[in-house]
Amino acid sequence: MSIRTSAKAGLSRLTALIEAGGPEIAVVRNELQFADLTGKAVTERFGSPLYLYSERILRRRCQEVANFLSYRPFVANYSCKANTNVALLKIAHSEGLHADAMSPGEIMLLREAGFATNQIFYVGNNVDDAELLYAITAGVTISVDSLAQLERLGRLNPGGKVAVRINPGIGDGHHQKVVTGGADSKFGVYYTQVDEIKRIANQYLLQIVGLNQHIGSNFLNGETYLASVERMLEIALKFDDLDFIDFGGGFGIPYTSEQSRLDITSLGDQVSEMLERWVTQYGKRITAQIEPGRYVVAECGVLLITVHALKETPERIFIGTDGGFNVLVRPTMYDAYHEIVNTRLAQSPPEIEAYITGNICESGDLLAQRRPMPKPKEQDVLAVLDAGAYGFSMSSNYNARLRPAEVLLTLNNELQLIRERDTLEDLLRHQIY
Ligand code: LLP
Repeated sequence: MSIRTSAKAGLSRLTALIEAGGPEIAVVRNELQFADLTGKAVTERFGSPLYLYSERILRRRCQEVANFLSYRPFVANYSCKANTNVALLKIAHSEGLHADAMSPGEIMLLREAGFATNQIFYVGNNVDDAELLYAITAGVTISVDSLAQLERLGRLNPGGKVAVRINPGIGDGHHQKVVTGGADSKFGVYYTQVDEIKRIANQYLLQIVGLNQHIGSNFLNGETYLASVERMLEIALKFDDLDFIDFGGGFGIPYTSEQSRLDITSLGDQVSEMLERWVTQYGKRITAQIEPGRYVVAECGVLLITVHALKETPERIFIGTDGGFNVLVRPTMYDAYHEIVNTRLAQSPPEIEAYITGNICESGDLLAQRRPMPKPKEQDVLAVLDAGAYGFSMSSNYNARLRPAEVLLTLNNELQLIRERDTLEDLLRHQIY
């Protein structure tokens, strides 16, 4: 293998993991360990690839979002699309978070984890009667995100309560695919259409109890968010009797060592101040809500994958692993960056620049490109950091591969299986032949 040493060490996401992970995560003799076991020992016990979550980090992030605002009343919803493992949902619930759901499936999983129906906010998109009826029957608060869906809900549940998702005309996010505000976005009722909202609500005697927005995912600078909060508060003045406003999620995490952390305390303070001023104008102290997903679960999660083949072409060094895009699709889908650590050589300096690839039959199956790494060996276990959000929840059985197991690293320094790996038989489930 050719050796290139141009790159920087970039250890800081690993350092952040070790610092936040408490005694359960450590580097011992250059080996990254979880519950005193090497990465390799962990995968020998539970299989590879494997999602591993730190309870300590999860609880810490839950507490941060639960205290986002000093303004009261305040509710922090965990946006469970980021990770719906029921064991993790239970932890979020035990930390006092409520939740938002995107589908009947998410409502069901949240109920299973102990969330009461009045702790679930259903924010659907382009749903049919059956989905709306499921949510109505479950008794959760419903948000609609188009005039057409408002009418549909009106027909199904005249006289009911409803929230309306507003597109504030402002968007943000780490990739065009996850920007959910602005004139190009499919989400929400455009903020200039308040009269139409009121007309339909009157027609069906619907009571508009809330407004919600979500401008996009993974911003590290709160400026755009604050602009959207301001716009939302202006729009809210046009509605007479709101109970709540949900300002959405999207709070980013630093995936690279170069990115600095979003200062959510200062962001929260600014939102609280805006709200305090606004309530005097509105004349009613409404409930303020947020709905972060990634911020809650991304950093607690590590994906462990195993090296099975090393290869060189005249152009590239490939590290072939079992971490295909069926397991973690973010790099393929959004060119997303995740720091990747060889657990056997956790703090060794880089020696090569490698393309880290998986076992899926597509050339786009790349976890990392031109990534500075120490030279790996077959059977080395690599840890893909910050993989707790939109990791397992976006995994698939593509190429008839098995979705991985999930393990919780508990505060007692124990490894607890919280989802079994798929079996081959699972691939036949629901097939009729
Ligand atoms: N609320 C609504 C209505 C949403 O659509 C989303 C995310 C959230 C809250 C939570 O956003 P967060 O706080 O996690 O940024 N798969 C992409 C992210 C897609 C986000 C979709 N909506 C990724 O891996 O980057």
